[in-house]
Amino acid sequence: MSVNIIIGSQWGDEGKGKIVDLLSKNADVVARYQGGANAGHSIVLQGDKYILHLIPSGILHPQTTCIIGNGVVVDPGVLLDEIQFLESKGINISGRLLISHRAHLIMPYHKLLDQAQEDLSAEGKIGTTGRGIGPAYVDKVNRTGIRIVDLLDKDILTHKIQLNINQKNQILEKIYKRDRLDVAAITQEYLSFDKKMDEYIADISIYMEQAIRDRKNILIEGAQGTLLDIDFGTYPYVTSSNPISGGACTGLGIGPTRIDRVIGIIKAYTTRVGHGPFPTEFSGEMSNRMRELGDEYGATTGRPRRCGWFDAVIANYAARINGLDCFALTKLDVLDTLAEIKICTAYRFDERPITNFPADLRTLKQCQPEYIILAGWEVSTKPIRDYNDLPENAKKYIETIESLVGIPVSIISVGPDRDQTIFQERFRL
Ligand code: IMP
Repeated sequence: MSVNIIIGSQWGDEGKGKIVDLLSKNADVVARYQGGANAGHSIVLQGDKYILHLIPSGILHPQTTCIIGNGVVVDPGVLLDEIQFLESKGINISGRLLISHRAHLIMPYHKLLDQAQEDLSAEGKIGTTGRGIGPAYVDKVNRTGIRIVDLLDKDILTHKIQLNINQKNQILEKIYKRDRLDVAAITQEYLSFDKKMDEYIADISIYMEQAIRDRKNILIEGAQGTLLDIDFGTYPYVTSSNPISGGACTGLGIGPTRIDRVIGIIKAYTTRVGHGPFPTEFSGEMSNRMRELGDEYGATTGRPRRCGWFDAVIANYAARINGLDCFALTKLDVLDTLAEIKICTAYRFDERPITNFPADLRTLKQCQPEYIILAGWEVSTKPIRDYNDLPENAKKYIETIESLVGIPVSIISVGPDRDQTIFQERFRL
């Protein structure tokens, strides 16, 4: 029985969904601690593909209780749609979904401000998902946010919505030249969420502590990735929360001594959506080739992902910032047809080698990656289930990553299906 955190080691989209799904088979509790409906896990239910943005995909395993922690920003409309969809597919949610009463709500003005801000700033575009994430966290930090607990008191909710909308209308009208929002309509809409969400609202910190004392198997799932972290990512091209492992404690109300293991999900190459520097990014044809081979399109926005070689500077940084115990290496099979494969081992800037991921964006934008070149394996790894059966060059690729970062690759994914996974013997959940 243990508490495991799964986090993204790059810029998100590392394939966390599949690994979380696999490991939640044995989990009693799956918990999210940050982000919101900017995340997306594709799931297939009765032949229909569906993307869950808020509810952890662990909900598909009937024994699992799913948690949305205080660090998450909750869009009630998205949440209720997901609940309704899952129920329409015969999945019983009752008693299996718990949402922190301390979590902040995404309001309609957060989405409008997110989009307006992006539209206005020609130079400083972040390339957000437009889900209102940044503005919701701004209100949280500004101490003007509206929390789920506020839904329980009509007077408090009405007062807070009015205060916020009066202020947001000024910004929307005067700065962004947008229409004013209707206080009454939004208040009515949010008042109606109370009854619909009531049964799911709980004190998550108390629930988690009890689950840990009861020696439950707990899987804590980070959304996005290390390089999108507000503190440690490629700021300002980041999301507005802490996807790193440290965020799990503040986002769920548990102490660091309760964590047993941190597993970093890392793709066998690198991708990112949105703007910002990306040292090992491919140019031209190679980018398109990799995007097609890996089906690299965003789950939430459908945007084409930018692609590049595996970057060990990033992998080392993720290992340090998150205290990673091991990696789960995903999408190895996407490299199956390549004759040679590069791994970036350092950057060079102003004739100096850089091995620690820099904070300065100018360095990141202008640095040149230094590569080692490995021979590809040029056979399909998709049917392989045992590490020893991997082609020698694939093993060499994995072992090179292990030696460059100094932590083991304990899970290897060679395709999207649950069974297309190789577990190293040493890995136990
Ligand atoms: P926001 O989280 O919508 O504010 O977007 C900020 C940045 O994070 C943008 O570059 C987005 O593309 C990126 N981002 C947000 N969520 C995800 C995700 O789940 N996967 C990958 N990138 C994401």
